[in-house]
Amino acid sequence: MTTTPAQRSNGSIALTLRVTRFTPRQERARKQRNPFAAQSPSSPFAQRKRQRGKQWVQEYQLNVYPQDTILDCLLAVKRDIDPTLAFRYSCGHGMCGSDAVSINGTPTLLCTATVAAWAKKDTPLHATDSSGFRQTGVSLNTSAGPSAKNDEQREIQEHTAPSAGFDGLDTSNEQDDTQHTRAEAMTVDLAPLPGFPVQRDLIADIDQMMEQIKRLKPYLQASGQLHTTQDGAVNMFEYLQSPEELQRFELLSNCIACGVCEGSCPVYAGGEAFIGPAALVINSRFINDSRDDATKERLDDISDADGIAACQSVRACSRHCPKGIDVGEEMWKLVELRPSGR
Ligand code: SF4
Ligand code: FES
Repeated sequence: MTTTPAQRSNGSIALTLRVTRFTPRQERARKQRNPFAAQSPSSPFAQRKRQRGKQWVQEYQLNVYPQDTILDCLLAVKRDIDPTLAFRYSCGHGMCGSDAVSINGTPTLLCTATVAAWAKKDTPLHATDSSGFRQTGVSLNTSAGPSAKNDEQREIQEHTAPSAGFDGLDTSNEQDDTQHTRAEAMTVDLAPLPGFPVQRDLIADIDQMMEQIKRLKPYLQASGQLHTTQDGAVNMFEYLQSPEELQRFELLSNCIACGVCEGSCPVYAGGEAFIGPAALVINSRFINDSRDDATKERLDDISDADGIAACQSVRACSRHCPKGIDVGEEMWKLVELRPSGR
């Protein structure tokens, strides 16, 4: 995907990927020296320990097309620039949920986010202005107003205005790469999914989320009582449902456990205090399934202090669900179903 300067006249643009990287420190024989770590393997804090290591921000420059996904960009970096960059993906089509990260501070999926939607005009970390001073991420727009003294200043100001999107971007740039200043590049900031411990670079440790989902038994619990057809015959092979019954949980069954809702949730980010919206959405999916007979147990399971009671109805979880689930609304429905007095 990396292009030659000539290809840039075909609509490609210069993009700076600003990636928050992390390399875990080698595990040493610390356990013998720390009596608490050795004594409490079942402690929730032991399960969610944060890795120690080195964290830094690294910039990669590449030429991309607006329709490329951010995942395409990372694959190009991995292939052509830096094979040590770590990120996770699988299906590449918004189906598996394995590639949730923070893009420009917003939790979302790498494979469905396009350059056109997420690249922003911004000053790269170490770009210099026309006088040679290094910029530190503050847009020149804040210091040079409409009265910018000369055309050169105005040009830099235009290319570093903090507005997102490609409106007004001249993609017919035919300059040689060496003439193309870094201040002109569009920028995308990448960081691991918030609220989760980091394993390496953009890879978040989602074990705890998966454990929480498993804890709520994410499978059909039916009584084995097979339904009958309209003429009274027993249907031996399936539990019958009306379209209306299917509609009650169909959207919820699309949840791919990506963790985007959890990365958006300020309560989940606080640690073990909340079982999290992903587990609750999947719990709600079975509560709303007419074939499932474990509604009472499922409601009991989320009535502990870390269950639905911990939800503060911030509703940030609803904003970026890639499957269009109104997660906050589902949380509220569970609050209403919760046995009274708990
Ligand atoms: S509810 Fe949406 S955002 Fe949350 S885990 Fe499921 S698919 Fe991802
Ligand atoms: S790679 Fe599967 S959802 Fe993005």
